[in-house]
Amino acid sequence: MKAFLMEEFKLDKNNIPKHVAIIMDGNGRWAKKKGELRIFGHTNGVGSVREALSAAGEIGVKFLTLYAFSSENWRRPKEETSALMDLLVQSIYNELDDLNSNGVKLATIGDVEVLPKSCQIALKKAIESTKSNKKITLILALSYSSRREISLAVQKMAQKVMNGQLEYTAINEDLISSYLSTANYPDPELLIRTSGENRVSNFLMWQLAYTELYFTKILWPDFKKKNFYKAIYDYQKRERRFGKTSEQLLNNDA
Ligand code: FPP
Repeated sequence: MKAFLMEEFKLDKNNIPKHVAIIMDGNGRWAKKKGELRIFGHTNGVGSVREALSAAGEIGVKFLTLYAFSSENWRRPKEETSALMDLLVQSIYNELDDLNSNGVKLATIGDVEVLPKSCQIALKKAIESTKSNKKITLILALSYSSRREISLAVQKMAQKVMNGQLEYTAINEDLISSYLSTANYPDPELLIRTSGENRVSNFLMWQLAYTELYFTKILWPDFKKKNFYKAIYDYQKRERRFGKTSEQLLNNDA
C-alpha cells in the first residue's frame, strides 16, 4: 500500500514537508448529506484523522497540526460542543495504544485549561504516555485562536519590558515566534483545508506567513490517505521562493 501510493503520486522523498497543518472542515455538511446529525460527521472524521496521521508518518512528516476545535467553536450549540469533547476523550483513550506503537508523540496548542476536566485528564495522560515517542508529533489545536495566541505573546513581552527584563529593541520575528505556543516546532510548509472553504479562520496566522495553501472540496470524513498524498504531490510541484526570483533560486544565491 505504502510503496503503491508513494509511486502512484510520484512523491519525492527528498522534498517532504516537515510540518503539515490541516483545517478539518465539512463534518457537519457530510452528515447532513446523509440525513444524519452533525456529530455523526465528527465521529466519522476521526477515521480521517487516523488516515492523515498514518499517511504523514509513512512519508516522514515530523509534525502534524490539526485544527480540532477553535475558540470560536464554543459558540456552537452546547449539545454539539459537549458531544465533540466526549468524542475527543473517547478517541484519545481508544487510540492511545496505537499512538504509542506508531511512535506518535501527542501535544496540544490552545487554551486547554478551558476544556472539560475529563478532556484535560485524558490529554495529560496521553501526553505523558507518548512523550518519548520520536517518529511524528501530533499537535491538536484545541480551543485555539491565533489572534489570542499572538495577544498573549505580546502581553508576556510587554510585561518583561516593564520589569526591565527585555529591551524593546530586542523584539524581532524570532523572539515573537519563541513566545508563541508553537515555539518548539518549525512553521508548517503546507496547510490543507477541506470542504471547499478558502479561508485561514484564525489558525496559525503568524506561522503561515510562507506556507503553501492547499484547498480541496472533499469533506473531512471523506479525506483519505490518497487525498493526503495528492496534497503533498501538489506541494512538491510548487516552487517556494520566499520572496526571491526563480533565477536566484536556480543560481542558489543567498
Ligand atoms: C469542522 O467541521 C470540524 C470540527 C469543528 C471538529 C473536528 C473534529 C474531529 C474530526 C473529531 C475529533 C478530533 C480528534 C483529533 C480525535 P464542521 O462541523 O465545521 O463542518 P461544516 O462546516 O460542514 O458544518
